[in-house]
Amino acid sequence: MREGSVTTLIRREDYQAPAFWIRTVDLTFDLDPAKTLVTAKMQIARNSAVAHGPLRLHGEELNLLRCLINGESVSFRQEGAELIIDNAPDADFALELRNTCAPEKNTTLSGLYTSGGSFFTQCEAEGFRRICYFLDRPDVMAVYTVTLRADKAKYPVLLSNGNLLESGDLDATRHFAKWHDPFPKPSYLFALVAGDLVAREQRVRTRAGKDHLLQVYVRRGDLEKTEHAMNSLIASMVWDEARFKLPLDLERFMVVGVSDFNMGAMENKGLNIFNTSALLASPATATDTDFNRIESIVAHEYFHNWTGNRVTCRDWFQLSLKEGLTVFRDQEFSMDMAGSPSARAVCRIADVRQLRAAQFPEDSGAMAHPVRPDSYSEINNFYTATVYDKGSEVVRMYQTLVGRAGFEKGMSLYFERHDGQAVTCDDFAQAIADANPGSALSLRLEAFKRWYSQAGTPRLQARGVYDAAAQTYTLSLTQHNPASPGQEHKLPQVIPVALGLLSEQGQVLPLQLQGSTEVSNEQVLVLEEAQQSFVFVGVASEPVPSLLRGFSAPVLLDDGLTDAQLLVLLQHDVDAFNRWEAGQRLALNRILAAVRSGTPLQLDGAFIQAMRAVLRHPELDAAFKEIALTLPGEAYIAEQLAVVDPQAIHAAVEAAQVQLAAALREDWITAFEANQIQGGYTPDPVSSGKRALANLALSMLVLDAQKSGDTVWPGRAYQRFKDAGNMTERLGALAALVNAHAELAEAALARFHELFKDDALVIDKWFALQGRTPEKDGRSFARVRQLLQHPDFTLKNPNRARSLIFSLCMFNPAAFHRADAAGYVFWAEQVLALDAINPQVAGRLARVMDRWNVLAEPYRSAALLAVQRVAAKPDLSPDVREIITRALA
Ligand code: PHE
Ligand code: ZN
Repeated sequence: MREGSVTTLIRREDYQAPAFWIRTVDLTFDLDPAKTLVTAKMQIARNSAVAHGPLRLHGEELNLLRCLINGESVSFRQEGAELIIDNAPDADFALELRNTCAPEKNTTLSGLYTSGGSFFTQCEAEGFRRICYFLDRPDVMAVYTVTLRADKAKYPVLLSNGNLLESGDLDATRHFAKWHDPFPKPSYLFALVAGDLVAREQRVRTRAGKDHLLQVYVRRGDLEKTEHAMNSLIASMVWDEARFKLPLDLERFMVVGVSDFNMGAMENKGLNIFNTSALLASPATATDTDFNRIESIVAHEYFHNWTGNRVTCRDWFQLSLKEGLTVFRDQEFSMDMAGSPSARAVCRIADVRQLRAAQFPEDSGAMAHPVRPDSYSEINNFYTATVYDKGSEVVRMYQTLVGRAGFEKGMSLYFERHDGQAVTCDDFAQAIADANPGSALSLRLEAFKRWYSQAGTPRLQARGVYDAAAQTYTLSLTQHNPASPGQEHKLPQVIPVALGLLSEQGQVLPLQLQGSTEVSNEQVLVLEEAQQSFVFVGVASEPVPSLLRGFSAPVLLDDGLTDAQLLVLLQHDVDAFNRWEAGQRLALNRILAAVRSGTPLQLDGAFIQAMRAVLRHPELDAAFKEIALTLPGEAYIAEQLAVVDPQAIHAAVEAAQVQLAAALREDWITAFEANQIQGGYTPDPVSSGKRALANLALSMLVLDAQKSGDTVWPGRAYQRFKDAGNMTERLGALAALVNAHAELAEAALARFHELFKDDALVIDKWFALQGRTPEKDGRSFARVRQLLQHPDFTLKNPNRARSLIFSLCMFNPAAFHRADAAGYVFWAEQVLALDAINPQVAGRLARVMDRWNVLAEPYRSAALLAVQRVAAKPDLSPDVREIITRALA
């Protein structure tokens, strides 16, 4: 039962240091699914810097059995969920607490819970208080010793953070293990695992000559799916030592997979816990995208050991200190792993697509917040695209402003100053700036930090004027950041604009700023005022500007370029990101024109010819072609419009797709045939690029066949689906059939289910594909409703809930936004049903309505009704309450 939903707003400016420190904690767990007994012995000291007051410990859904100070019973109070001791001693003291909790009943997957008969914990952000009473805040760092006691047959493996001190039998049926983590850590990094698991092991020696044991623990049948994760872990270790001189600091590093998990993975010290979807892969069951995602998440969690664990956050407002920085690090790692310049660009493009699809809409919706938020009522709601992905872009801008070497120096200073501390985003900024005196960053540090305090995506307008007589090119840059909730007026931000100039024939033009002697092919202009002009001299002919190369700042750019200029960039830019961007802009302009005018989209010959040229290009690689021929996402298209009609956007995108499929038919056939891979499966960028392009070509050919009545390509797709040697090709062929609503889709779906019915992660793909099937006559939506009744469906497993429900509500706009409002009714039902089980996951689903306010009628009014319906429920979780309250504000 939930106590009333009083939501309290927590403000960044109210931060106060803790009144007490917990220096050490000795935990003993008697593990039992129904009732686990937790004994905690802590060494506590008053924080003399803070006014004298009671000891207030956090706790949630705990059953307190004992409370002793220095071995004597002491009077205490319980206020709400807090345990308060008014007469705590002034001198250091020992506190002993004993309580129980109920792991088996814990469906929130926060705190201690069971999954598949094993025990797991999830403590970030505030899950530790669901295990025992504690100062559950990241600035209280303690040294942990943990003893686990459990049935030996059911739980042969007993794990916690750090190093194993001892283990053995307690009696005939129970055994124990005692762990010690020498590094002081905040409670959110605590973890334990107990269960019947097996491990892949590898011993490695670092550059410094230290030996380490790496282990990946999973359920018995899954061992052969851990090879890729282990390889990724080793590659991450090597990379972090090489690039940032950061070695592994523990003798043993463990990774564990669990199928019930709210997020991707968690960086608990020395004991990372992973959603199996972010860990397990085999060629037969995982796609190239899965292999890539696993590599980057394994790296992400590993990198947290320094950026997050050794240096942690002072409070949760600083979350991006660890998350933005660690996403930046995993993105850099993935690019370095990809290798070739073109493969690096493809990584960058994928990251930017993701930012535009998720973070841009967030930044213009009801939940818009700065990278360092000012207030929250439920911190779980702030693990957002803004904190993670925009946060990473902010870190990338530091690197752009001080250079790669300068950034590495800044990182070294950051660790020199703050190792072992809980710090703020300001501390990070200061370290990077201080390591680079006189740099473009240091000179504008205060203004740069507006990236942390101002929400919203800045609009950047660029207009160039060429003076043929003077041979000058004057580029005027203007910025404007529209209002966000609680932020009416904003100050100009520091925007690094990487640029180059091309001649109209596509040659590189040298750049020389007026008043400077430096000449180069690429420069980074730093815009800091609302408006600034930059004059280039010695410009021999009218240039085509290539702006914001590599996406040098997370802004929406309006460069006013003509089709002819975009075509020059698409064909000739040396910056692969901007080549791609030019193609996207050509497509976007056409889609927007159709949507704005309310007329059916009709692609012109010039556009089709440009796309054909990309597809036929002798030098561009397959991965780039695939990403260049993929149309802009519907969420990003919506970002360009003041009033959003999801059906009109979808219709335009679909029309573009159908026309590209027909017009380039011969080229798709060539692309499909030229990109077949013989031999065994490897997920490397070249092979995966070829598979991606072959899959795109196949989907276009099946789509076109649907329109023309041809049966050859659907037949070939079905054959390929049946014979595929790996999941990338199998799922690609299946998706081609399903998304085109081909007749063979039903048989293929049935066969797929039969083949993989025992593999939960593959069945998730089966649900997700159906949840995301483009709408046709209401059938896709009807199918999702029907699938809710499927015996394999359950709301209790987050991966499964996401695979069907989130797929529809978040990634299938045309099926979701219905004139009859049935999609919104469905959303409200599912939010409420999920909220009773898992508030964190329900909170995520609630976010779907962030932007109801910009929808066109009749969607807008219907969406509002659905939001109000959820709001009317009196006992919503704080998670959902906060999202809904903001949506209605
Ligand atoms: N800190 C985790 C990560 O980004 C994400 C996470 C947050 C996992 C909260 C679980 C709960 O690596
Ligand atoms: Zn993280």
